[in-house]
Amino acid sequence: MSLSKELKRRKTFAIISHPDAGKTTLTEKLLLFSGAIQIAGAVKSNKIRKTATSDFLEIEKQRGISVASSVLSFNYHDYKINLLDTPGHKDFAEDTYRTLTAVDSVILVIDCVKGVEEQTEKLMQVCRLRNTPVIIFINKLDREGRNPIELLDEIEEKLSIKVRPLSYPFGMGMSFRGVYNIYDNTFAFFRANKQQIEDEVKYFKGIDDEELVKTFGEAAETLKNDIDLINGVYGKFEIEKYLSGELAPVFFGSAINNFGIRELLDTFVAIAPPPVARETTIGMIQPKEEKFSGFVFKIHANLDPKHRDRMAFVRICSGTFERNKNYFHVRLKRQVKFPNPASFLAQTKSLVETAYPGDVIGLYDSGLFKIGDTLTEGDTFMFKGIPVFSPEIFRIVQNKDPFKSKQLETGIRHLTDEGLAQLFVQCDGTKKVIGVVGELQFDVIKYRLLNEFGASCDFLHLNAYKAFWVQYDKKEDIEELMRLRGNFLYFDKAKNLVFIAETEFSLRMTKEKNPKATFLSSVEHNNQTVEMEKV
Ligand code: G4P
Repeated sequence: MSLSKELKRRKTFAIISHPDAGKTTLTEKLLLFSGAIQIAGAVKSNKIRKTATSDFLEIEKQRGISVASSVLSFNYHDYKINLLDTPGHKDFAEDTYRTLTAVDSVILVIDCVKGVEEQTEKLMQVCRLRNTPVIIFINKLDREGRNPIELLDEIEEKLSIKVRPLSYPFGMGMSFRGVYNIYDNTFAFFRANKQQIEDEVKYFKGIDDEELVKTFGEAAETLKNDIDLINGVYGKFEIEKYLSGELAPVFFGSAINNFGIRELLDTFVAIAPPPVARETTIGMIQPKEEKFSGFVFKIHANLDPKHRDRMAFVRICSGTFERNKNYFHVRLKRQVKFPNPASFLAQTKSLVETAYPGDVIGLYDSGLFKIGDTLTEGDTFMFKGIPVFSPEIFRIVQNKDPFKSKQLETGIRHLTDEGLAQLFVQCDGTKKVIGVVGELQFDVIKYRLLNEFGASCDFLHLNAYKAFWVQYDKKEDIEELMRLRGNFLYFDKAKNLVFIAETEFSLRMTKEKNPKATFLSSVEHNNQTVEMEKV
């Protein structure tokens, strides 16, 4: 098949949600409907438990399993679908944000009882940064949830995106009868079935189907009025607005009961974008360009605890990837070749000979890669847009075993290359500070330092609010900062200057006193050309 045909049939996306809304269940049901798995219950075990567990073994075990589910590729009709998994636990949110840079669209799951939750808002903000097209799936319609119109209003308001329902529920909870598919004018009658696809879903011809009135009487009239209202209020569905990230089509259903999934999947393949162009340091790279290019968005370590091996996940952005061909590692300025690249079909990993834009391949890595690295066929550009946010929690690293300081250093380098945490080294001192998004990450770091590198350390409290990357033209611009706040100045791994503020107030004062410097709350993971976002 030619490159352009391969491109047209690819859809690369992620499912995101606040924990518990139903991401894992929906993932599994999409696999079920595509025929990639036969029975529900297979994906479930991949989920890192949501409780703040300190059971490292459990985390390790689950991390191991989740390698296979980091990318789930499956075929549906003529489409090749690549579903990129994102961790549900909020302490690993940064991993999710990075994965979102490697997809072309997302499906956002919302619980109809809880509505928009904290993590839903944060994830949506990340989608908005890149104008990623979003489809919303309102889940758990079998429960007594909130009024659908109210939910739609809340989504528009809290997520700052216009919505357009493409399906609409008929009743809810105990009185839930089904979903009317506005997109193709059919009505699916609800019957609960948790394990298998319901063969006998009754499809009516549409809102004017006489059978519908015969079956449901007056309630059918109410539904008809609701649909008229929806069509009047929300107007025509404009696919361009969805593709530019301005408008989110909304579907309703019940993932656990396999209900509303086929409608979602069919519409998804019909409207979701194929692989899109991506921004680099020399402008946009189109997927149809013949030369191969791709970037590393995730590194997964410790596939086999006996070896210190890692797998770098590469999103292919243009051209065709071939096994055993030499590619250019832009940061290291050297040629590299991959004899055993992996692809992921359903839940199994296999050797891949060729792969196309939109696909994700896994490359065995012995320390060659950092998050954000670019591979090309010789060009020297780098992909942009992998965000690094200020960590939320900071701790000073204290070595517990002076004979193992080298191991500790190596371990920390490896783990921070993977993006598990960020490292800041004090400019005029010796303090090494680790910054993370959630407490749980410190547990994982300690465990892995000991088990993989034989190093042990303590994490001491550091009074810190957030890290800010400092941009300036001349040294004079930050004279005051260097003189009075030297203790709070650090270098990140790319040798960028970072100010770790103790409080919001100290940040404000420092900004006032150093008006020529710019303080930024996030940077891009692109180890050379650092692009930053203003505070
Ligand atoms: P997550 O990945 O977003 O965290 O959510 P997950 O799919 O694990 O779903 C969270 C809980 O919600 C699960 O229950 C799941 O069974 C339930 N759930 C998912 N979809 C629906 C739905 O359509 N209707 C209803 N009523 N519940 C749904 P749990 O008790 O936490 O786990 P389990 O014991 O069912 O495995």
